[in-house]
Amino acid sequence: MAQIDSHHEKVLVIDFGSQVTQLIARRLRESGVFCEVHPYNKADTAFIDDFNPQAIILSGSPHSTHWENSPRADASVFTRGLPVLGICYGEQTMCAQLGGSVEASEEREFGRADIQLVKESPLFEGFGDIGHEERVWMSHGDRVASLPQGFAAIATSKNAPFAAIADESRRFYGVQFHPEVVHTPRGALLLRNFTHTIAGLKGDWTMAAFKEEAIAKIREQVGTGRVICGLSGGVDSSVAAVLIHEAIGDQLTCVFVDTGLMRQGEAEQVVSLFKEHYNIPLVHADEEERFLSALAGESDPEKKRKTIGKLFIDVFEHYAKEAGGADFLAQGTLYPDVIESVSFDGGPSVTIKSHHNVGGLPERMNMKLVEPLRELFKDEVRALGRELGLPDSFIGRHPFPGPGLAIRIPGAVSKDKADILRKADAIYIEEIKKAGLYDTIWQAFAVLLPVQTVGVMGDARTYDNVLALRAVTSVDGMTADYFPFDHDFLGRVATRIINEVRGVNRVVYDVTSKPPGTIEWE
Ligand code: XMP
Repeated sequence: MAQIDSHHEKVLVIDFGSQVTQLIARRLRESGVFCEVHPYNKADTAFIDDFNPQAIILSGSPHSTHWENSPRADASVFTRGLPVLGICYGEQTMCAQLGGSVEASEEREFGRADIQLVKESPLFEGFGDIGHEERVWMSHGDRVASLPQGFAAIATSKNAPFAAIADESRRFYGVQFHPEVVHTPRGALLLRNFTHTIAGLKGDWTMAAFKEEAIAKIREQVGTGRVICGLSGGVDSSVAAVLIHEAIGDQLTCVFVDTGLMRQGEAEQVVSLFKEHYNIPLVHADEEERFLSALAGESDPEKKRKTIGKLFIDVFEHYAKEAGGADFLAQGTLYPDVIESVSFDGGPSVTIKSHHNVGGLPERMNMKLVEPLRELFKDEVRALGRELGLPDSFIGRHPFPGPGLAIRIPGAVSKDKADILRKADAIYIEEIKKAGLYDTIWQAFAVLLPVQTVGVMGDARTYDNVLALRAVTSVDGMTADYFPFDHDFLGRVATRIINEVRGVNRVVYDVTSKPPGTIEWE
């Protein structure tokens, strides 16, 4: 269902299941154009009528147009007089649907390729003259073999004679490569040419406008009801809470469940932000003892996660009732958590990161959900946070998982271990900030290993724990690379931690990417 008011310019992205469809949405939004991604089998004529887009983009896909029942765009996509851009499979299905043909290519192209401009087109405005070579990222087995009537090639590559095509009079465009990925260096410009030059959009999607609309929508949804919001200390739930507070003031109660498994200074920061900076009523539930005793002796990662999840709900429910109950539960759910993508067999598959939600609670307490960030990506949430006046130091904080330090202490968790880890982690983060690297890194943290090794300190033998350091770069947490610190930096951090934190006598650095590793250790 379309979520945004109709007076916004909107682009509809029809998803055929490509791994990178979400990036189309990101790139468009970065240039001020609002769009939504919807699976092809939902985007029928009535849906598109209702959505009322100003332009349509067809995504890539793991499918081949030759396969039986391979997905197609609703026929009305091509009869509305709207500009259409087909990307990879999107180009192929557009050709197949409009009378051209697609063939399985002998030479498949994966990764970097160079295309050459062969005909002038607004799609390549600002790229260069005819003959100009442009670096792009390809990933296809099939290719367009013959064009539908009205189309002409505007760029070619060694293995794709129709690397980019256009029917300028109908404003239909197709590219065999992926302009949405960063490996196509000027892909964002191409998409902007499509939305701004070809479709004539102005780019009216601003955070200030979003904020005003979101506030109006919250007021409309909540009426005179009461809302309760579970704060985790993270950016998402905090931004959601501040936004809702702007909308409905004292009808909102925030509950911060302090599990005793937070980072150093985290609880104080959240409490002071809400109470002093914003004057938002906050219930601060200090439940360290309860969480640690429930976790005592448990070393299975899944059982640890489940124990924390269940306890969190119990505790939250208790404080929610104490605060007088509520009709609505507010959550900081983001767009990547709710986006629907198409699974390989053609059916829509909903990917929801359940760990973001206070799962089970709304039914148990008969509450409805308020999720004002459902349309936003992480970086947009940060921009909204800035719009709401949250301090940069808070907005820019690295993500922190719901189960907290418990999943950074492989094996059984105890207060002593949590204290050791907190201290070591704080030193590590302090050094990263001093080196000016904090904002370049997606997430950095320490992990206290259940391994003891022999060391020597001040002529005496030690037998203490190993601490692992982790730092990754990432766009959305789905994939990640380890961060290449220089050796001096790592040496400095290791020395400080071993000197200043009792209980650690060896420090190692984790150089695993995701995949195959995950970011967290458990
Ligand atoms: P993984 O470890 O799956 O983590 O590569 C990806 C991102 O998600 C965070 N994460 C969580 N966040 N509750 C959360 O709110 C969780 O249970 C959870 N587990 C992992 C992780 O910190 C990283 O940013």
